[in-house]
Amino acid sequence: MEHVLSVRGLRKSYRVRWRKARRQALRGLDLEVPRGSIFGLLGPNGAGKTTTLKIVMGLVKPDAGNVLVLGEEGTSPLARARIGFLPEQPYFELYLTPRRLLAYYGRLAGMDAARIKSRSSYLLNMVGLAEAADLPLEKFSKGMLQRMGLAQSLLAEPEFLILDEPSTGLDPLGKVQVREMLAGLHDGGTTILISSHQLSEIEEICDRVAVIAAGENVASGGLDELLRSGEEYEIKLRRPAGETAPALPPSAAWRGERDRVLVHRSDVDDALRGLLAEGLEVAEVRPRRMTLEEFFVSRVSGVGEGGA
Ligand SMILES: Nc1ncnc2c1ncn2[C@@H]1O[C@H](COP(=O)(O)OP(=O)(O)OP(=O)(O)O)[C@@H](O)[C@H]1O
Ligand SMILES: [Mg+2]
Repeated sequence: MEHVLSVRGLRKSYRVRWRKARRQALRGLDLEVPRGSIFGLLGPNGAGKTTTLKIVMGLVKPDAGNVLVLGEEGTSPLARARIGFLPEQPYFELYLTPRRLLAYYGRLAGMDAARIKSRSSYLLNMVGLAEAADLPLEKFSKGMLQRMGLAQSLLAEPEFLILDEPSTGLDPLGKVQVREMLAGLHDGGTTILISSHQLSEIEEICDRVAVIAAGENVASGGLDELLRSGEEYEIKLRRPAGETAPALPPSAAWRGERDRVLVHRSDVDDALRGLLAEGLEVAEVRPRRMTLEEFFVSRVSGVGEGGA
C-alpha cells in the first residue's frame, strides 16, 4: 500500500511557562495514511491532533521522529505545494476580500492569473461565498470564515488535503455540503486527512481512522474492521409479523430486545441453545458492529490518566 503520509516515533514537548517540567504532547506517535483514503484522525481534547498536523505541515518542529510526506522527508516546500491545509484556527488579513485573498494565495502557489480567477470563482461558489466574494473578511461570520478557509485549502487542487476540524462553526447545511464536497474530492482521487470530534460525520465519510490519546496512536485501521472488532455478537431472531412470540428467556449473559439478542463472544453457544429450547427461531448470528462513538470511548477511557 502506498502511503502519502508516514509518521514514525514522533515526539514533541512544549514548555510550560510557570513550571520547569515540559508538557509531552506527542509520545512516539506512529501514523500511516494510504493514498486515496479519507482518513479520520480522532482523539480527545489535547490528545495531540493539531500538533501532529502542524508538524506534518512543517509549522512545528518535532523533538524526535520521522515524517515522510508524498515520498519526501520532512515536508519540503515542493511537497507542501501539493498539500492543501485548513488550520484549526485559520488566520486571515481581515481587510482582504475572499477574491483578493485567494489571488494572494494563488500567486504564492505559483498559479497564473487566469487559473486563479477560474479556481476562485468555482471554489467561492462551491463553499457558498459567491455573494460575499468582494466583501471584506472583517464583515464575515464565524462559519463564513471557516468556508473561506476551506476554499483556500482547495485552491491549488491539492492531491493531499489536511483539514483540522473542518466543520467547526458550520451550520447543519454547511456540514452536509462539506461532506458532499469531500466525497466528491475523494472520488476524484484526493487523499484526505481530517481531524474531527464529529464522530457520526467521520463514521459516514471516512474509510480509515486513527484514535490518538495522550500523544500516542491507540487504535488505527480500516473503519469496518475496527468497528467489528468487538467482543459482542448479535443474534437476530425470526419473528413472523403479528405472532405472539414467547418472551426471551431471562439471562445474565445476554441483553435481549424483541428480535435480537446481544451476547458476549464466549456465551454465543449457550445463548443459541437457550433460545432454541424456548422455541425461538434464529435468523442470523454475527459480530456486532459498534458505533464509532462506542469504539472511541472504549479506546480512550483511562488513557493518559495519572501521567503528565
Ligand atoms: N503552543 C503550545 N504551547 C504549549 N502547549 C501546547 C501548545 N500547543 C499545544 N500544546 C499542548 O499540547 C497538547 C496537545 O495539543 P493539541 O492542540 O495538539 O491537541 P488536539 O488533539 O488538537 O486537541 P483539540 O481536540 O482540543 O483540538 C495539549 O496538552 C496542549 O496543551
Ligand atoms: Mg486540535
